[in-house]
Amino acid sequence: MDLKSLIRDIPDFPKPGILFRDITTLLRDRQGLRYTIDFLAEKCSEATLEIDYVIGMESRGFIFGTPLAYKLGAGFIPVRKKGKLPAAVHSIEYELEYGTDCLEVHRDALHPDSRVLIVDDLIATGGTASATAKLVQQIGCELVGFGFIIELRDLQGRKHLPDVPIISLVEY
Ligand code: PRP
Ligand code: ADE
Repeated sequence: MDLKSLIRDIPDFPKPGILFRDITTLLRDRQGLRYTIDFLAEKCSEATLEIDYVIGMESRGFIFGTPLAYKLGAGFIPVRKKGKLPAAVHSIEYELEYGTDCLEVHRDALHPDSRVLIVDDLIATGGTASATAKLVQQIGCELVGFGFIIELRDLQGRKHLPDVPIISLVEY
């Protein structure tokens, strides 16, 4: 299936010069949605051995991470932006284009021997995925790979990620 044809390009969103790759048009397409999750699950299970948890980043990582976890027979763990999770958290600060941001995961969600796969809709600079990788590795988890629907190759985000399998379904 031609997934690119289901992803809508919106110029100058959220600011001038950014070409936004909009996945809402893919999500609303019943065949496209099913194909995306099935294809991602197939590629992830080929590339990694058994996993315990899929880790998805707020907010678009939740949309793809949860059905992927279901399909792989794993649990799903949300990584959220600062102040959203109700129980005790591990946090990591990371650099944005301007300033810093912070991601958090529940302290009791992961234990050191957990095998985890990090999933998001898109990798651009790699800042979000690399911060999430550091967060789970600081806990001592075994990071087995990354799964993305979209990879923006020009931004070379994968250069910032650890040396584990990195799967993406569509490249620009
Ligand atoms: C987007 C996207 C990734 C991240 C990729 O999320 O869903 O999480 O940016 O960019 P990076 O590789 O440069 O870090 P965003 O922070 O816009 O949040 P959202 O999912 O809530 O829209
Ligand atoms: N997140 C970071 N860059 C993006 C882009 N170009 N399109 C959609 N989401 C993004």
